Amino acid sequence: MKIIPANLNKRESHELFMSAIVPRPIAFVSTVGEDGIFNLAPFSCFTSLCLKPALICLSIGWKRDGKKKDTLRNIEFTKDFVINVVDESLGEPMHLASFEFPSDVDEFKEVGLTPKKSDRVKAPRVAESPVNMECELIRVLEFGEIPSGCHVIIGKVVLVHVKDELWSVDHIIISKFKPLGRLGEELYCRAAEIFEMKESLKFFI
Ligand SMILES: Cc1cc2nc3c(=O)[nH]c(=O)nc-3n(C[C@H](O)[C@H](O)[C@H](O)COP(=O)(O)O)c2cc1C
Repeated sequence: MKIIPANLNKRESHELFMSAIVPRPIAFVSTVGEDGIFNLAPFSCFTSLCLKPALICLSIGWKRDGKKKDTLRNIEFTKDFVINVVDESLGEPMHLASFEFPSDVDEFKEVGLTPKKSDRVKAPRVAESPVNMECELIRVLEFGEIPSGCHVIIGKVVLVHVKDELWSVDHIIISKFKPLGRLGEELYCRAAEIFEMKESLKFFI
């Protein structure tokens, strides 16, 4: 099978790449709007970009009606956001928060999660999340046409909160963390079988 992405429509392209680039981490992004309403939504086109400065990026598509998603509108307004990492216990509220709620709905209330004041940014963080990254907006890049294109958000992580029980010396204990990953279709995965390859770090740092 050989596939030329330029020949695919948006749905076909989504199915191909979302089932080929797996598993993806899930950024559960909390923001606050111009009206003071809190917003929450998951984004799995998300990764770490750079260590120093600590940069992350995520990609936000258009709504079906060609309007900007609330997360993007809020980030453009406050110039900040929080990435809340998703563990197994947050799976259901995270999935629920992906539904297209009207902009005037507080999605924390809607999915039953607790907003906590952030230290360095206006956006609230999710109290139940094991790791929160407070981010300042660095750049918004726009690609493609409406509604098939996207905006890429680059953020600088200015503060990370990690639950004490997950922390050991200089890292998060993965076996206690239980992160959830996103696959294609409506599928998710757990980090159920973890193994080590010695010496691999020396190629990166
Ligand atoms: C696990 C998961 C991952 C998602 N990843 C993305 C993504 O990377 N980019 C995107 O635009 N939408 C993604 N979505 C869809 C958004 O969460 C959805 O459009 C949401 O309604 C946006 O909310 P907002 O308008 O409040 O920002 C994802 C949904 C789920 C369930």
